[in-house]
Amino acid sequence: MDHIQMIEETRKWVKNQLAEEKTGHDWYHINRVTKQAQEIAKIEGADDLIVTLAALTHDLIDDKVVASEEKGLKNVEDWLVTIGTTEDQRKQILTIITTMSFKGGTNKPVTTLEAQVVQDADRLDALGAIGIARTFVYAGSKGDPMYDPTLSIRETLTLDEYRNGRSSAIGHFYEKLLKLKDLMNTDEGKSRALERHQFLEDFLSQFLEEWGQD
Ligand code: ADP
Ligand code: NI
Repeated sequence: MDHIQMIEETRKWVKNQLAEEKTGHDWYHINRVTKQAQEIAKIEGADDLIVTLAALTHDLIDDKVVASEEKGLKNVEDWLVTIGTTEDQRKQILTIITTMSFKGGTNKPVTTLEAQVVQDADRLDALGAIGIARTFVYAGSKGDPMYDPTLSIRETLTLDEYRNGRSSAIGHFYEKLLKLKDLMNTDEGKSRALERHQFLEDFLSQFLEEWGQD
């Protein structure tokens, strides 16, 4: 298979597996992240095949999406063998998808340019209008309120608190979203994040103004 076919077959394979996905890791998220990652890769000079395959598969090892990270990884690895990637390419892709998630900010920074690009693209999708919408959908699916003024806003959480603590959609802005612009890796990622970050700030001010005093 040539690179175009490898990407096309992987798109179909991933889309199929995310058909029932409702936690904000749906196919449209993957598609947006992949497009954005490919654009940034071109500007930053990262390897297109590695970036594209990692972006397409990055959520297939998330335990919100699959039974366990281990099973998810095996599934992705087997697929990458099927489409004829080299061992070195597989190693790069699997390293990217296992190291890039936010995990409450507790994860180590990623090191390769390709990983930086995919992580930036994923983070951009957590910002801006789409990021706000995803946050409210996710909070709703967990049974969290959109906002609860009695919950104190905490910006530093352990992984367990980040995952299991009581929060709200607005709380998530402080726990994660507002931090992302300073965590972007590439120059192009940073510049794309700024506009979306400003949109979050504007949304928050308007939201809290409309909420008024308790
Ligand atoms: P990804 O790695 O694809 O960004 P996550 O699993 O971290 O995905 O989250 C999916 C979406 O839901 C993101 O937009 C994220 O900001 C949002 N999200 C994650 N955790 C929460 C939460 N506790 N409350 C509200 N939104 C959340
Ligand atoms: Ni993602």
